[in-house]
Amino acid sequence: MYFKKNKLGLLKEHEITDEKLYINRRQFINKATLLAGIAALPLQALASSPGRAISKYKGLQKSPFSTVEDLTSYDSVTTYNNFYEFGVDKNDPAKNATEFPDKSEPWRVVIDGECDNPGEYDLEKLIKPFTLEERIYRLRCVEGWSMVIPWIGFSLADLLKQAQPNSKAKYVEFNTLYNPQQMPGQQSSVLKWPYVEGLRIDEAMNPLSFLATGLYGNELLGQNGAPLRLVTPWKYGFKSIKSITQIRFVEKEPVSSWMVAGPAEYGFYSNVNPDVSHPRWSQSRERRIGEVLKRKTTLFNGYEEQVGHLYTGMDLKKHF
Ligand code: MTE
Repeated sequence: MYFKKNKLGLLKEHEITDEKLYINRRQFINKATLLAGIAALPLQALASSPGRAISKYKGLQKSPFSTVEDLTSYDSVTTYNNFYEFGVDKNDPAKNATEFPDKSEPWRVVIDGECDNPGEYDLEKLIKPFTLEERIYRLRCVEGWSMVIPWIGFSLADLLKQAQPNSKAKYVEFNTLYNPQQMPGQQSSVLKWPYVEGLRIDEAMNPLSFLATGLYGNELLGQNGAPLRLVTPWKYGFKSIKSITQIRFVEKEPVSSWMVAGPAEYGFYSNVNPDVSHPRWSQSRERRIGEVLKRKTTLFNGYEEQVGHLYTGMDLKKHF
């Protein structure tokens, strides 16, 4: 129930018909599917429908970095989430982030630290100069599940270059909004708040690193990290910090919220690596959401060609 309300809540009036059409079409296809005696497959195929039907972003460029794998369904992408600011269960964020972010105030992003052109910006102004693209990237989580998501956003490097980092800028630290009223999970001490993540500057400047503002053709929902989140597809999902309000250039390696919570379990690099186990479980296989059988996990989540060179000569067991 909340899910439907949430999606409609984002629609402009003229788009509602499209959404109804989508639901009707979906009901029709569901019935047809039952009649044909076929289960999950056609629903998977439908995955691309909702975004297209309610598209906010028109004429988007498709990124050459995209994968051509089957998409994870829109329903799964928007209801099976990790976002501890809204609860620790996978279905909590979709239930608890329906009013997030508070649209009555503009979302502000601070860019500061070791750079010559720091600033504080309204999100709309911040993203205006950049080319929005659709990038279909895998997301692989440390608990062993993965998804393929049609993200919408722009290159992180383009934004970082505009801030003119100086020679002391060795790392980039990202912070999520701290607002326990809007994010009730921050009233608990399950993690150190605000949620913090970091990248080495060359990782941040790599063309795969991406700031997302939408997915499936529309704005991000609260549970997916609205209005601005990082996507680093070769790293475990927890590096992809959501609802960003601060980007800071720093000299020392940032300490992420997960490194504080479990230093033996979560390292700074967090590259997807089937040969480096989590202390409590193997990372060699994963379950693609929507599929029954597990598949083998690939080094750097399959993006070795694009990012492997960043780690030449490093012991990836030590720098996990
Ligand atoms: N960002 C914030 N601020 N808070 C979080 O709890 N969870 C992380 C990451 N970003 C998290 C976060 C984890 S553990 C994962 S796996 C991904 O978001 C999941 O992204 P998704 O829920 O959109 O699939």
